[in-house]
Amino acid sequence: MIDSQSDQETLSTYVLNSTNEAIIAIDNSHRIVLINPAAQTLTGLSSRQASHCDVRNLFKDQDDIIYLINTAMTEGRSISDRETIQLRRPNALPLAVSVNASPLYTDAGVQYGIILTLHDVSNLRQLEQDIQRAQHLEMLKTLAAGLAHEVKNPLGGIRGAAQLLSMELDQRNDLLEYTHVMIKETDRINGIIEELMNLTSPRSKVVSEINLTKTINDIVLLQAQTEQGKKIQFNLQLDPSIPPIKGDKTLLTRLFLNLIKNATEAITHNGTITVSTRIDSEHHLTRPGQIPVPFVVVKIIDNGPGISTNIIQKIFTPFYTTKSNGSGLGLAISQKIVTDHDGLLRIDSTQNQGTCCSVYLPFISTIIPNIDLEL
Ligand SMILES: Nc1ncnc2c1ncn2[C@@H]1O[C@H](COP(=O)(O)OP(=O)(O)OP(=O)(O)O)[C@@H](O)[C@H]1O
Ligand SMILES: [Mg+2]
Repeated sequence: MIDSQSDQETLSTYVLNSTNEAIIAIDNSHRIVLINPAAQTLTGLSSRQASHCDVRNLFKDQDDIIYLINTAMTEGRSISDRETIQLRRPNALPLAVSVNASPLYTDAGVQYGIILTLHDVSNLRQLEQDIQRAQHLEMLKTLAAGLAHEVKNPLGGIRGAAQLLSMELDQRNDLLEYTHVMIKETDRINGIIEELMNLTSPRSKVVSEINLTKTINDIVLLQAQTEQGKKIQFNLQLDPSIPPIKGDKTLLTRLFLNLIKNATEAITHNGTITVSTRIDSEHHLTRPGQIPVPFVVVKIIDNGPGISTNIIQKIFTPFYTTKSNGSGLGLAISQKIVTDHDGLLRIDSTQNQGTCCSVYLPFISTIIPNIDLEL
């Protein structure tokens, strides 16, 4: 048991230094008087940089956090926002946090300032979004089945009739062109329905060993050729020491093609796309009865216009597109492919700066990578 005052203080310091909760203490004139290590990591500020800095400067573009600080300060009551705050940070992506501001009192009961606690809820938000996407796909299954039955069959009839008509028409007849349009458009609708059916009940995986470096190199080569007229620099940081991973080659090629295509389409005139691969030995996929396996992370980063916060919530919804010639199925299909490989797909974007797509695939390989496994 701790008795002396100094032992108490030492213990308080240990607690502050060890907790994952980001804690910032602020005095009555809004000066930061204490920032614990978790808060330094979250905000990107060192204790020296933060010391006595006005907290309103630290969060100057964050009206939501300033509101909580001001309310706790002036009304002397605790106030929280557990839902919507995106913490904007210098040189780092915004982070979903829950924030609490509580008045800080001295032993004499006089208000000294406030304590601000921030908690990283990005994983929780991501999990909620993953569940929501899975539920959307479930709903689509019924729709796809309905479409296949009610639309695909009559469509076949229309196509057949258009084909017969074109055979009946003289080759010089102007109407021939219309029959070609009918055939082309019915094929397009048929293609979309098939995509949707694949999305909801895909073919079973054909698993083989895949060399990620080669697969990505080939896609980039192909994509660089189709993007003529734009000046796109591809910056490849592919770790050649990553052994082959197990997966469905056709599906994984499609996944990376979708993401790299989105990046190239986002760049209107000139820009850079960085594609990198590495082994993430910090996170592991753990399955009952099996040794945990690390993830291979593939990142596709573009410096295009980025995605605004109200749009980013919708980009995985099938058929959602902001492009005049897009089908809006690219990301929904990509999500499905990643999930079918027991992986994770994350998209982080900052408007006017660019977008980062991260694909995490579990390292299921016959060749054990030369890294430290935390078992
Ligand atoms: N790298 C990116 N930068 C900016 N916006 C993006 C990026 N990737 C995706 N988006 C946004 O997400 C939307 C959905 O993307 P998705 O790949 O699902 O469909 P699409 O590209 O519009 O059409 P499709 O892939 O079917 O040809 C896009 O229309 C675009 O608004
Ligand atoms: Mg796309």
